[in-house]
Amino acid sequence: MKGSFLARKPFRPVGRLVGWLVPILVSLFILSCGDPLSDPEVQKQRESVPDQFRPGFDQYVVNNCQACHGLRGGGDGPLNKSRRFDTPNFRQADSYRHGSSIAEIRNSIEFGVNGGRTGMQAYQNIGPDNLTAIAQYIRWLQQ
Ligand code: HEC
Repeated sequence: MKGSFLARKPFRPVGRLVGWLVPILVSLFILSCGDPLSDPEVQKQRESVPDQFRPGFDQYVVNNCQACHGLRGGGDGPLNKSRRFDTPNFRQADSYRHGSSIAEIRNSIEFGVNGGRTGMQAYQNIGPDNLTAIAQYIRWLQQ
């Protein structure tokens, strides 16, 4: 009797903990992999952005603008390694072709430029507040 009690009981709490913990840890891992903001390079750039422009930076990343424009707006994103997209340098106000003010930048994002033919499509799925936040982040890059 005593022997069988010892053989069964001690492992039960451990089994229960592992049963819960493993799926939770696995889900957290999968979630963190899918989040573009968790990329170390993105994190590094994010730290250099003042607090008030971080929501715009986050939206810039989540909407994949950096794929062409690069994290700091230099046009050096992963989709543009070959420079097939002729992007302006967001850090230089005089390189913009469609206006460098917050309102003009917001307009370029919402409606695209040149009907999307040169690579910049309209982003009508981005909500008004997020459009403004992204435009403010890009404007901040100009300093
Ligand atoms: C597929 C590549 C690509 C992606 C993704 C992309 N852009 Fe562009 N973007 C371009 C190109 C190319 C231009 C220049 C087009 C031109 O001047 O004819 C441009 C132009 C712009 C301009 C106008 C700049 C000027 O010259 O006045 C703004 C602002 C802009 N993009 C913001 C964004 C934002 C914000 C996002 C994400 C929501 C984004 N872009 C996503 C390729 C891209």
